[in-house]
Amino acid sequence: MSALEKEALELDLADPGNRELFDVPSAQGGDYPEVAYFAGNSLGLRPKATRTELLEDLDAWAALGVEGHLDAVRPWLPYHELLTGPAARLVGALPSETVVMNSLTVNLHLLMVSFYRPTRSRHRIVVEDSAFPSDSYAVRSQARFHGYDADDAIIRLRPRPGEDSLRTADVVEQLGSDVALVLLGGVNYLTGELMDIPTITKAGHAAGAVVGWDLAHAAGNVPLSLHDWGVDFAAWCSYKYLNSGPGALAGAFVHERHLGGDRPRFEGWWSTEASTRFEMAPESRPPASADAWQVSNPPIFSMSPVRTSLTIFDQIGMEVLRERSLRLTSYLEKLLAGVTPGRPLRVITPANPDQRGAQLSLRISGSLRAGELAKRLRFEYGVIADAREPDVLRLAPVPLYSTYHDCWRAASALTEAVPA
Ligand SMILES: Cc1ncc(COP(=O)(O)O)c(C=O)c1O
Repeated sequence: MSALEKEALELDLADPGNRELFDVPSAQGGDYPEVAYFAGNSLGLRPKATRTELLEDLDAWAALGVEGHLDAVRPWLPYHELLTGPAARLVGALPSETVVMNSLTVNLHLLMVSFYRPTRSRHRIVVEDSAFPSDSYAVRSQARFHGYDADDAIIRLRPRPGEDSLRTADVVEQLGSDVALVLLGGVNYLTGELMDIPTITKAGHAAGAVVGWDLAHAAGNVPLSLHDWGVDFAAWCSYKYLNSGPGALAGAFVHERHLGGDRPRFEGWWSTEASTRFEMAPESRPPASADAWQVSNPPIFSMSPVRTSLTIFDQIGMEVLRERSLRLTSYLEKLLAGVTPGRPLRVITPANPDQRGAQLSLRISGSLRAGELAKRLRFEYGVIADAREPDVLRLAPVPLYSTYHDCWRAASALTEAVPA
């Protein structure tokens, strides 16, 4: 065993994380029985409790039929309320500002219905040039929906030539009097850059714009204080760092100052105050909370894995996870610094830990494609990385379940798989 591998194993003994709570897939190649999993920024691993608790919810249906709405172990009618507190704590919000519902892009659309209210003189939307395509399609379709030319309405922020990430000052400079909405990723999906959410939010407001955040790669990855930062709205998915399963339900945040009142909104029967839901009245009476943005009755068996996962975050705490995340990512960074020189690989994630979450992205130059490299890592070394074609490989050591030994495995696999 090499000295480096020994060091990794010793670090695991000293700083073990919570891997025992998760099911780790078996490796399909390499020297170890389990995979070294670095794709938690794409799809997190399944907590062991998810199966048990989902079966409890499912069995309540078998045992009770429709009476489960009120009599199930976790009654279905108020089920979504079980998720509100933990989700609010996760993103630094008040419970009244938070709701778990739908999927991420659907939530962004529902929130833009309320918060993108363009006028001729102020109709532009600021996004990152490397925004996740779904966000890009969503904002373009919103601009078109309001009768604007999407190419004109959307401002795409690019890093300076020769740089990989955005500078806060450059973002702020783009926020002119024609900007109606700033909609950025809290952590960029490609580069892993953590944006300065409070500063950009403040600058957006000073420019007279509404500021919303896509927190797909930030929720469960970095501590957030959405309420204190004055963010107008935000949405996030639960299948990445939140380990709630493929296509899992998403979260939404609406700042307290926007609750109540007559802000435009798309509604359905779940938008009305819970106590009025069965009055079958023709008009809704929405509560002064983010629940007012709900439309349909929630899918209980999809809520169940989110509830299980949020309980884990609640029990351990985001601050504790962030501390381990900083140690683990710095360790991976140190190991990669021993691999990249002389190889066609370069870390494009900011080196400053305050400007990133767990993820480190590698840009590959030359003819090797990211997908081909990821395949080799998986089948020859049992290392699961995430490829963004053509040239980015993303590695996210997740503080809940990744190990220092996983980091060592990734670095040594890259050393062998990528010729110097
Ligand atoms: C940053 C970001 N935004 C949006 C999405 C799309 O999410 P959904 O398909 O759940 O709406 C993703 C999916 O990975 C994402 O990473």
